[in-house]
Amino acid sequence: MKIVVVGSGGREHAICYRLRIDGHEVIAVPGNPGIAEICDVYEGDPKSLDADLFVIGPEAPLVAGLADELRLMGKVVFGPGRDGARLEGSKAFMKEVAAKANVPTANYEVFEDTAQAHKFLEKMQAPYVVKTDGLAGGKGVLVTNDLDLAKRDVGEKLSGSTFGEAGRRVIIEEGLVGKEVSLLAITDGKKALALIPATDHKRLLNGDLGPNTGGMGAYAPVPWLSQAILDRAMTEIVQPTIDKLVELQIDYRGVLYAGLMITESGPKLIEFNVRFGDPEAQVVLPLIEGDFGQLMLEAALGNLLQTKIKSNGRAAVTVVMAAPGYPQKPVIGAKISLPPTDVLDRDLVVFHAGTAKDEQGNLHVSGGRVLAITGIASSIETAREKAYKRLEVVYFQDAQWRDDIASNALVDN
Ligand code: AMP
Ligand code: GLY
Repeated sequence: MKIVVVGSGGREHAICYRLRIDGHEVIAVPGNPGIAEICDVYEGDPKSLDADLFVIGPEAPLVAGLADELRLMGKVVFGPGRDGARLEGSKAFMKEVAAKANVPTANYEVFEDTAQAHKFLEKMQAPYVVKTDGLAGGKGVLVTNDLDLAKRDVGEKLSGSTFGEAGRRVIIEEGLVGKEVSLLAITDGKKALALIPATDHKRLLNGDLGPNTGGMGAYAPVPWLSQAILDRAMTEIVQPTIDKLVELQIDYRGVLYAGLMITESGPKLIEFNVRFGDPEAQVVLPLIEGDFGQLMLEAALGNLLQTKIKSNGRAAVTVVMAAPGYPQKPVIGAKISLPPTDVLDRDLVVFHAGTAKDEQGNLHVSGGRVLAITGIASSIETAREKAYKRLEVVYFQDAQWRDDIASNALVDN
């Protein structure tokens, strides 16, 4: 198949990598230097291209309606239209749909007024959770036990000083307690199939300390998550949401990513994303048995023929190397030293996220999250060892990474 992949991050590198392993012809728009090593890249408008399938990687073009525009031209697209993408584009809309579908999630209220929001916080119990309504690259969420900090954060978000327009409405919600899982499901608009679950590491620093980021590393599968809980998440959260979207006449074809908290009383929804997770894609996509392109094509055509997505039995661990100053103010420009590798290796891949090449062909840092170093093996321990061993020989000045990605994968329960 000829497949166009829109995007330029680590997630899109992982999508292109997997599609190339499956033998497809891939054109990435615009791609990045790592993607350019495995397929064609194109700087222009994806609408000017012809292909059997269009896959839209990031949330921003989905929220902006790129899938609708392509569909109007008769193209086959994996990714929801503007209507479905609101599940991620507006947390208030996501909460509304979840409530209508009886999906278990944190209690919440929406505010545009600082004084009212402060009053609400004063009546709440810690932990306090304050979110921007609009898109904020995974960084618009504060979870804290400190009431004063929560109040200050509300003031900053609503004034537009920290997140611009995205923060002009905030959601304040009940803090959920438990362990997090990223459950990505492929849907054709009617039914949904779970991919292998993954665990992200959202905080910047070892031991889950520091600010929230887009994700500093991930592993899959999740040994401490039982099949029973996974089944409950599909029947209590994912499928009722898709059914509700059908009722709302939203034809959602693509990936529905449920960020879950596994609480004492079962799985609860933290958020929906309308695209593959980043860095979850880097660990989930290498584990799919069979042809990933075919799976996305079936979903895009509105007719998933498979009844289950099988795992190839392997495990993957990815460690993100981020720029100094990430997530607040990433410093870009440092030169990257990266030993050459087999770019379609099945066991070890360095996915590019925020890299660019200068005129001399030298690789440098161009974004917050720079590289996602991914080990794939028969066990999480071996995958983890591979990733960290490679990280030792990759260098850019003042790189940040966590040393404890997947270190608790097997002891957690
Ligand atoms: P979100 O962008 O909504 O996924 O939030 C980012 C991160 O903040 C999540 O992955 C959680 O770690 C944390 N978080 C968000 N909402 C809650 C909540 N209601 N209770 C506890 N932690 C939360
Ligand atoms: N890793 C979290 C996300 O993709 O939103």
